[in-house]
Amino acid sequence: MILQLQNITKQYCHRNGAVIKALSDVSASIEKGQFTAITGPSGSGKSTLLFMLGGLLRPSSGSIFFNGQPLHNAGDNALSEFRKNNVGYVMQNFSLVPYLIAEENVMVAVSLLQKDKKKQKEIARGLLAAVGLSDRMDHYPKELSSGQQQRVAIARALANNPSIILADEPTGNLDPLLASEILNLLKELNTERGITIIMVTHSPEAALYADKKILLKDGCVV
Ligand SMILES: Nc1ncnc2c1ncn2[C@@H]1O[C@H](COP(=O)(O)OP(=O)(O)OP(=O)(O)O)[C@@H](O)[C@H]1O
Ligand SMILES: [Mg+2]
Repeated sequence: MILQLQNITKQYCHRNGAVIKALSDVSASIEKGQFTAITGPSGSGKSTLLFMLGGLLRPSSGSIFFNGQPLHNAGDNALSEFRKNNVGYVMQNFSLVPYLIAEENVMVAVSLLQKDKKKQKEIARGLLAAVGLSDRMDHYPKELSSGQQQRVAIARALANNPSIILADEPTGNLDPLLASEILNLLKELNTERGITIIMVTHSPEAALYADKKILLKDGCVV
């Protein structure tokens, strides 16, 4: 088991005073090397759950363990070490830097772990080649198709050689053909590199790529 959630609740205290219960008593376990899909209606707590699995949010109560080590009470430094050493993130809107070419977008992430500029470039180029973008390394995001932009984002997510990739609606902005290319790429990273993938998706077709589904409704696992 790589990640374990026990009786997680999360409430957001909004500045208007409202308390919003995003997750209630969620327990789940994710095996190493598994491809998991988190599905459920809008507002059911999917992104909240994903952020929590990635050490970006702490639960209001309950426990999370990564390889048996507690994350729920880890300090800021320990959480950021956990993210840096283990997790890659892929988001729906790609979030690439518009004024950097593909290679430089990936280098930004590589630079967190590798200080030598020449090596950064080498690693970034290798990662872009791995996602099939050898011929687009010097393109700006706006010169790339949406599917290609998402590939750059996936290359960037691989910069720290993560054991886990968290993807929030990675195909939400893509047409069905491009979506299946991205899903195949994630599946390949899963089967060939053994990366544990946790993907939030609305799409039943996308969820078919997963070995396991976690269905959320109103913050509860159904
Ligand atoms: N930072 C926040 N502050 C206050 N409420 C929040 C915050 N983030 C999320 N929420 C609320 O928590 C609930 C769960 O949100 P979450 O983003 O996890 O849902 P989701 O399943 O990812 O939805 P979607 O499919 O629309 O992305 C929602 O009711 C949302 O309004
Ligand atoms: Mg969401």
